[in-house]
Amino acid sequence: MSTATGETVRFDPAPEGLRGTLRVPADKALSHRAALFGAMSSGAVRVRNYLDAADTNSTLAAVAALGASVERHGPGELTIRGVGLHGPRETAAPIDVGNSGTLLRFLPGWLAAQPGRSWTIDGDESIRRRPIDRVAIPLEQMGARIEARDGRLSPFTVHGTELQGIEYELPVASAQVKTCVLMAGLNASGETTVVEPVPTRDHTERMLVGAGAPLRRDGRRLSVSPVERLTLDAVDVPGDPSSTAFMVAAALLVPGSRVRLEDANANWTRIGFLRIAQRMGARIEGELEPVGAFAPSEPITALDVAHAPLHGTVVEGDEIPLAIDELPLVALLACFAEGETVVRDAQEMRVKEVDRIDAVVDGLRGLGADIEGTPDGFVVRGSGGLRGGRISSRGDHRIAMLGAIAGVASREGVEVEGMDAAGVTYPGFTADLASLLAR
Ligand code: S3P
Repeated sequence: MSTATGETVRFDPAPEGLRGTLRVPADKALSHRAALFGAMSSGAVRVRNYLDAADTNSTLAAVAALGASVERHGPGELTIRGVGLHGPRETAAPIDVGNSGTLLRFLPGWLAAQPGRSWTIDGDESIRRRPIDRVAIPLEQMGARIEARDGRLSPFTVHGTELQGIEYELPVASAQVKTCVLMAGLNASGETTVVEPVPTRDHTERMLVGAGAPLRRDGRRLSVSPVERLTLDAVDVPGDPSSTAFMVAAALLVPGSRVRLEDANANWTRIGFLRIAQRMGARIEGELEPVGAFAPSEPITALDVAHAPLHGTVVEGDEIPLAIDELPLVALLACFAEGETVVRDAQEMRVKEVDRIDAVVDGLRGLGADIEGTPDGFVVRGSGGLRGGRISSRGDHRIAMLGAIAGVASREGVEVEGMDAAGVTYPGFTADLASLLAR
């Protein structure tokens, strides 16, 4: 297990609560998709509010290496000139995805369908532990040739070939795998169908429809047919629900808090955490998209969040993929809630940037939590709050930010080792949190 060696930052309790208005940073998932679908498009794509963070900068570097041009006009403002669906060029060096599991799983979907060309894909130490067989298996069924270290790890080489459409039932509910197979389907012969066990985030479907791709949705079945070109005019990236969730949790936990979070994405497939928190007693107001809605554009709202007493809940089944990146925060809320909280069916947490079940359980226990890990989740008995102490981010951005929020909500404060990991998705996190604490 890697231990973060970067900076240690102390987060003190916030006796007066959090107050004020914040515009949360741009969405990581949509920024990755804007860059990749932009690179796959024919013509120029204007992107507004692209996330300037390590993960999404890896994607810009990757699409530039593949031949797309990326013009920066100002903070978050880009024009991407794509190379078209069949146009990525070979790269002299391996493509470096950095820490980004999303880029790792998306790229092969495009590259596997380029006959006669090959690419090697690699990333950091965390990426080298993350499985790629979940995308290699369906791509190989489509005819792709992928050589991976130990059959399932990075670095791996994608040898492009002619692909045929398949029908693929996802063995795990993963938007990354869904996206990879649909991307490959755009360049394959015949129809490609992905069947989801339960709904996952639907940004890819929304953006593909916006780009004119022949995507059909029939319940849990998503089908694409081959297409000559994608035409994506402009993408406006809203705030990231996963980054928003840290500030929501802080406001819920610290007495006296009242916070407004602007430009938040209200897409129902991304706000599972808000629904869970509301069930625990949270006061969160905003125009949240109704469950089951679908439109090419992403819905945006302002969220008003105030401190509230919470009670325990059970989180399982269909709810898990819709809150997958926010489950560490459910554990944190549970420490302050009355009664027991159980999270199950969340074994996917074990294959994120680190094993997030272990990281959350060991990390929060070290701060005074009554928490136990299970193979597919955790059980927390609310103990009226957290003492505080020291936590390691283990190099995982979401564990770093979890430690920080635990600190402002704790009795004695928390020192987070490796706080710099937050820069993977939220470089301005510490300053944003401080702005809500300032009086
Ligand atoms: C993502 C999907 C999720 C999520 C990741 C981003 C995406 O992964 O954890 O941070 O942008 O599609 P899985 O779909 O593999 O669960």
